[in-house]
Amino acid sequence: MKNTVVTFRQMKEKGEKISMLTAYDYSTAKLEDAAGVNSILVGDSLGNVVLGYENTIAVTVDDMIHHGRAVAKGAKNALVVVDMPFLSYQTSVYDAVVNAGRIMKETNCGAVKLEGGAVVCPQIKAIVDASIPVCAHLGLTPQSINAFGGHKVQGKTIEAAQKLLDDAKAVEAAGAFAVVLECVPARLAQKVSEAISIPTIGIGAGNGCDGQVLVYADMLSMFSDFCPKFVRKFANVGEMMSQAFKDYDAAVKDGSFPAEEHTYKIDDEVIEKLY
Ligand code: KIV
Repeated sequence: MKNTVVTFRQMKEKGEKISMLTAYDYSTAKLEDAAGVNSILVGDSLGNVVLGYENTIAVTVDDMIHHGRAVAKGAKNALVVVDMPFLSYQTSVYDAVVNAGRIMKETNCGAVKLEGGAVVCPQIKAIVDASIPVCAHLGLTPQSINAFGGHKVQGKTIEAAQKLLDDAKAVEAAGAFAVVLECVPARLAQKVSEAISIPTIGIGAGNGCDGQVLVYADMLSMFSDFCPKFVRKFANVGEMMSQAFKDYDAAVKDGSFPAEEHTYKIDDEVIEKLY
């Protein structure tokens, strides 16, 4: 059954955990969808994982649409959420609605995600008023990496923890259907989850959240540039790929690939008539 923002709300009400994973292409989305993952996030981590950038700052709306469209084609049941990249919504409410609208129309996704709390609530409200579901994102928001001065756990002081709780209440009031909490102490994330009625989706925020999200290339050990403490490696696909690439290289070079079963036949008389 197709997961929607209503499914998210019902799952929180019933105390059922929500699973979300990132994907950036059709084949990965198909596998995640078939596995029963509730939601697929086309994260702007696309910049790091797929495009090889140092951070997410350079990712464009066109990049997100290109990959979001492929993921949406592969996801039959999962709710597809596409990230709004840096400066596609911070500049104005008008820009936010136009860019969210483009993402929805051109990808066929079910929702958009943007980073920030009270400061982007006018944008969240306007996008929701245009009938586009919005997932918020608080805590370590990678588009602010230059302002944070690195990947740091957020909300550890009284002021910062209170701000995070206030921001969570603000995005809920603005109409967000869910909120991602990234790199937040587990007890704070639990308190936020209990204080708001929309689901919290944690990444590095402990198991008191209503759901969890991971970057799929991290949990499969396919991305080796850096690995945050909160990642569990569910499989070593990176190692398997690396071994398979070495085996392929060796098989091509020693002539054992392609073998008979990988080749197409032709009648002898056709070859014989050639001059
Ligand atoms: O871009 C992304 O993949 C994300 C997740 C880390 C939540 O925003």
